[in-house]
Amino acid sequence: MELTTIDGLNIQYHQKSKRIINIELQETIIEKLAFNFKKFDILTLEYKPFSRFTIANVLDEITSNKLSRYIIKVLNDRKTGCLLISPKNHSSIVDQTFLVKLSTAITHLFGNPNHDSMAGKYYARFHVKHIDSSDSYLRKPYINMDLHTDGTYVKEKTDWLLMTKLEEQNVEGGESVLLHLDDWEHLKELSNDPVGKQDFIWGSPKSKNVDYKVEHPIFSKDKEGKDQISYIDQFPEPKNMEQGLFCKSYQMLLKAVKIKLKQNYQLAHV
Ligand SMILES: [Fe+2]
Repeated sequence: MELTTIDGLNIQYHQKSKRIINIELQETIIEKLAFNFKKFDILTLEYKPFSRFTIANVLDEITSNKLSRYIIKVLNDRKTGCLLISPKNHSSIVDQTFLVKLSTAITHLFGNPNHDSMAGKYYARFHVKHIDSSDSYLRKPYINMDLHTDGTYVKEKTDWLLMTKLEEQNVEGGESVLLHLDDWEHLKELSNDPVGKQDFIWGSPKSKNVDYKVEHPIFSKDKEGKDQISYIDQFPEPKNMEQGLFCKSYQMLLKAVKIKLKQNYQLAHV
């Protein structure tokens, strides 16, 4: 993936992996965005779907109509597919409201987000607190989430996802672990196993507010015949011993990757 130049943005490869493109927003562009975002409020964005595309268009115009084209290119290239977008400095303009608006604008440059049943909106917003009594690993502060893909239990296809850190208070540590499928040494071994191509049943805990189950395999192929994956350890409901044991060996191989990544301080992505 080639880098590009857009006024007001500093675009570089991530220092730990060329698969990730870093986009840093300079102060001038943040000021322009903040000024133009004032015309929108969060409630309007939540109630009127068309306004989400309007704010995306504002972002694209401010970035010389080049940002959308570049993001789409990065996301569609299997070798990359990941961007890290952040402000150069953390000024007071970059507050939670600004970040929700910016995230909305970015996502609508290249698609239309799935409805989030947990939040009942086009996006979900939640805190990770010291104590958690929820029914999934999502909000557990002291338990590592195992590598997974999103959207395993919903009917809609999940092509991409955007995560934004809105706030950080009284926190130390925390890191995101990303693995590119093509960097996983056990990919062929697992994707060639016929059990991985069988339909599994996928459910979800109550808090997700999804009252149906879906069926799909763990491994499938994309248009070019390359491996695709859809998996999270908490949600498959194995039909038999064969499927149960496949999940178990899959999980062991994922855990091995994670340990290796941490030891080597490497970063990769799905
Ligand atoms: Fe996730």
